[in-house]
Amino acid sequence: MESITHPFLPLILLFFIPFSTSFTPLDNYLLNCGSHTNTSLYNRLFVGDSTKPSTIFLSADRSILLTDQNPPLNSPTLYNTARVFRSRSSYRFNIRKKGTHLVRFHFSPFVAQGFDLKVAKFSVLVNGYVVLSDFQLNNSSVLKEYIWKIDTDVLQIVFTPAGNSGFGFVNGIEVFSAPADLIIDYGARLITLTEIGEYRNLSSQVLETIHRINVGGLKLTPFNDTLWRTWIPDEDYLVFKSAAKSASTTHTPNYQNGGASREIAPDHVYTTAQQMNRDNTTFNAKFNITWNFPVGPGGILHLVRLHFSDIVSPALNLLYFDIYINGYSAYRDLDLSSLTTHVLGSPIYVDFVVDSDDSGVIQISVGPSDLSSTIRMNAILNGAEIMKMVDVMSTQNVYKKKKIWVVVGSVVGGFVILCLAIIALLLAMRCRKKTPKQGAAESVGWTPLRMFGGSSLSRMSDGTAYASPGPNGYFGLKIPFADVQLATNNFDRSLIIGSGGFGMVYKGVLRDNTKVAVKRALPGSRQGLPEFQSEITVLSKIRHHHLVSLVGYCEENSEMILVYEYVAKGPLKKHLYGTGLPPLSWKQRLEICIGSARGLHYLHTGFAQGIIHRDIKSTNILLDEDYVAKVADFGLSRSGPCLNETHVSTRVKGSFGYLDPEYFRRQQLTDKSDVYSFGVVLFEIICARPAVDPLLAREQVNLAEWALEWQKKGMLDQIIDHHLVGQIKPSSLKKFGETAEKCLADYGVDRPTMGDVLWNLEHALQLQESGRKREPNADSNVSESESVRPIIVPGVPSINLRTGDDGIGSSDINGSQVFSQLMTNEGR
Ligand SMILES: *[C@@H]1O[C@H](CO)[C@@H](O)[C@H](O)[C@H]1NC(C)=O
Ligand SMILES: *[C@@H]1O[C@H](CO)[C@@H](O)[C@H](O)[C@H]1NC(C)=O
Ligand SMILES: *[C@@H]1O[C@H](CO)[C@@H](O)[C@H](O)[C@H]1NC(C)=O
Ligand SMILES: *[C@@H]1O[C@H](CO)[C@@H](O)[C@H](O)[C@H]1NC(C)=O
Ligand SMILES: *[C@@H]1O[C@H](CO)[C@@H](O)[C@H](O)[C@H]1NC(C)=O
Ligand SMILES: *[C@@H]1O[C@H](CO)[C@@H](O)[C@H](O)[C@H]1NC(C)=O
Ligand SMILES: *[C@@H]1O[C@H](CO)[C@@H](O)[C@H](O)[C@H]1NC(C)=O
Repeated sequence: MESITHPFLPLILLFFIPFSTSFTPLDNYLLNCGSHTNTSLYNRLFVGDSTKPSTIFLSADRSILLTDQNPPLNSPTLYNTARVFRSRSSYRFNIRKKGTHLVRFHFSPFVAQGFDLKVAKFSVLVNGYVVLSDFQLNNSSVLKEYIWKIDTDVLQIVFTPAGNSGFGFVNGIEVFSAPADLIIDYGARLITLTEIGEYRNLSSQVLETIHRINVGGLKLTPFNDTLWRTWIPDEDYLVFKSAAKSASTTHTPNYQNGGASREIAPDHVYTTAQQMNRDNTTFNAKFNITWNFPVGPGGILHLVRLHFSDIVSPALNLLYFDIYINGYSAYRDLDLSSLTTHVLGSPIYVDFVVDSDDSGVIQISVGPSDLSSTIRMNAILNGAEIMKMVDVMSTQNVYKKKKIWVVVGSVVGGFVILCLAIIALLLAMRCRKKTPKQGAAESVGWTPLRMFGGSSLSRMSDGTAYASPGPNGYFGLKIPFADVQLATNNFDRSLIIGSGGFGMVYKGVLRDNTKVAVKRALPGSRQGLPEFQSEITVLSKIRHHHLVSLVGYCEENSEMILVYEYVAKGPLKKHLYGTGLPPLSWKQRLEICIGSARGLHYLHTGFAQGIIHRDIKSTNILLDEDYVAKVADFGLSRSGPCLNETHVSTRVKGSFGYLDPEYFRRQQLTDKSDVYSFGVVLFEIICARPAVDPLLAREQVNLAEWALEWQKKGMLDQIIDHHLVGQIKPSSLKKFGETAEKCLADYGVDRPTMGDVLWNLEHALQLQESGRKREPNADSNVSESESVRPIIVPGVPSINLRTGDDGIGSSDINGSQVFSQLMTNEGR
């Protein structure tokens, strides 16, 4: 045993007895292919595949046993023979215990009897799935390892020659049972450009090992590993070698229940690590340690398993660090002490599912978290494994993605959209990468929240009504995780009503029968903590008829959960197009516009500091039972300008198609950015089409540009929702169009305030209503004097549209009447 050096040896020894028996797989086939004799490799007996023990069925009619006559010095005997397949051939293994297995192929090319194995080209199928397709070794020995859940009684491995070579070969095969908990189905974090969440089906995926790294340590051979794996050192993958300093301990790892076991990774992985090298830096310098691991082409999901054991801290709870994968925040504030039963040096591992991109590498970084003290600032990594998912599932996903692009590409016929999307993506990525330090406004509230969180009362448990936020902001809003689970039937997938950058949204019912929408993020999600903090900070202070209110939040078990009032009729967008829901009347639409404008106006002006929403769009305006608009999703909110500033400089966020071009250019955020986005929503409401529709003709793709053009020509009526044709009073339409147009002014200074917008929209409603008052019969038809003729707009279904009308409105309204009515409106 290696624990000799531990000071508490006698005690610990007892503890370790169960672990010291090495793992014995129930299924254990080790084949020395193309040989009549048994051979040993790393103390394991590989049985000659021509000795045909009863459990192995080899059907290889025209196969050849090949022996290397001049094997290289020190080459293992296993590699000196090969079975060469000249036609489709197979091995069959009886599986005694279903479940996860390791399947390994040893290939080591040589030349013998006229066969040059280097040029062999072949495919390998396992239980019908292609794992190696048109595979060619060239000039190297290769060990291919697959982790595979076998749920059949027989495992069949098929070799098929491909290409001109006409043959395939193999030197050795291993098929053996893996420990039951090697790959489990919960806890893996899915972190890709398009999705975040929990990855649930890990064990059903076929995994191919790409990298297995003993970080900060030496090469480990199958001698040193209970699953006979090889672990290689990390130095070659370090981006800046001087950023890392290796650490090691002579103490045996404190394996704990719930943590990693010896089978997950051997002792030697957990007793060495890389940590931040702070020798050459100032004491408060913050930096990452970064590794680049080459992987195949982009768009493929990979399992990244990272191994940790705190061997660098003198005591518990001193080490907090962040993990980044491919530039995304993958785990924030990782506190190893809290993940194990509070013993230093306890091994744990964390699984991530990430997708490869076109860079050809998976980049892993660890760096100090904001929670770590300057003195103790550190970050570590003990081991890393990267496995490619070769399952059918991921192939389909990739295919789906490709298909969407093909459709877009072919329908639009131009690459303009692709370019736009790529630019947007690049910008989004660039912005994510150069994330500036969190502004003071953002960090307000989180640390206090953590401190008060534990002591805050649980309203749910004692069944009292929701208290309004106390002096500390969030008192009384905390909801126990158990109650959230109960409310959502333990996050029942059938209750999912939405998903977004933040995570999944579930419908739920609290104990007191309040219907709620539960927004759940996995910790470490890249749109994580700042948004969570910001959302609680903002929402907890706000109660307004036109803003979705926060019912509570939960941050137990490293969860980030926000619980909102449930808004019955869901996103406005659904009621505008694409769903077949009954069309909203013009009056309803105006009222929705006015309601959301009022909500936004309150955000902008209702506080001492003002709040900028930053992501106004039709999916963030919700409608309640009575079609009352409620603005939702303050995840992207930031406090507005302070007295002495005119803007908040922050990274660009928001949604494509709604984004203020000035904000985009200058990265300066003002409340006028919301006004711009709201202008897009206004056009969306009247035209009933998405802000960006790549399937339309080029000039129509971007709603803001397209609608603005028609509005400037005075012909907005030609592109309105056909359901509205004949409903809108020309004066009302004119006012509405002008308002939307002003919102979309190029420069923020030229745009109206949200208060002006509100006033103008109310005016537009007034114009509509006052017309009605005078003509009580003109409910659906505005006026006989207006001619109606069909017009065909390119790309828009042929519909009846009214022609323009000169001199709209002015004679219709009684200004003082409008004004006096507006004066009585509350909430402005
Ligand atoms: C090879 O090993 C198998 C399994 O242990 C055994 O049954 C067989 O007799 C051995 N063959 C030789 C030639 O040693
Ligand atoms: C061998 O070379 C071929 C052709 O250059 C290449 O496609 C293949 O990936 C190489 N195989 C390996 C194992 O590197
Ligand atoms: C293949 O590798 C061996 C040793 O690694 C080397 O001696 C030989 O020249 C290589 N052959 C080719 C064609 O690259
Ligand atoms: C994923 O897991 C769920 C639940 O275990 C199962 O119903 C589903 O079929 C699995 N999907 C795949 C692709 O294996
Ligand atoms: C791995 O095992 C071999 C053989 O038992 C041993 O010589 C070597 O020292 C071990 N490696 C480490 C890092 O302990
Ligand atoms: C940086 O630190 C290492 C020790 O970690 C030391 O060997 C090296 O000389 C230092 N380099 C500089 C430039 O100070
Ligand atoms: C560490 O890397 C991540 C991702 O690339 C980056 O966002 C972060 O700012 C880096 N931290 C430091 C201290 O450089």
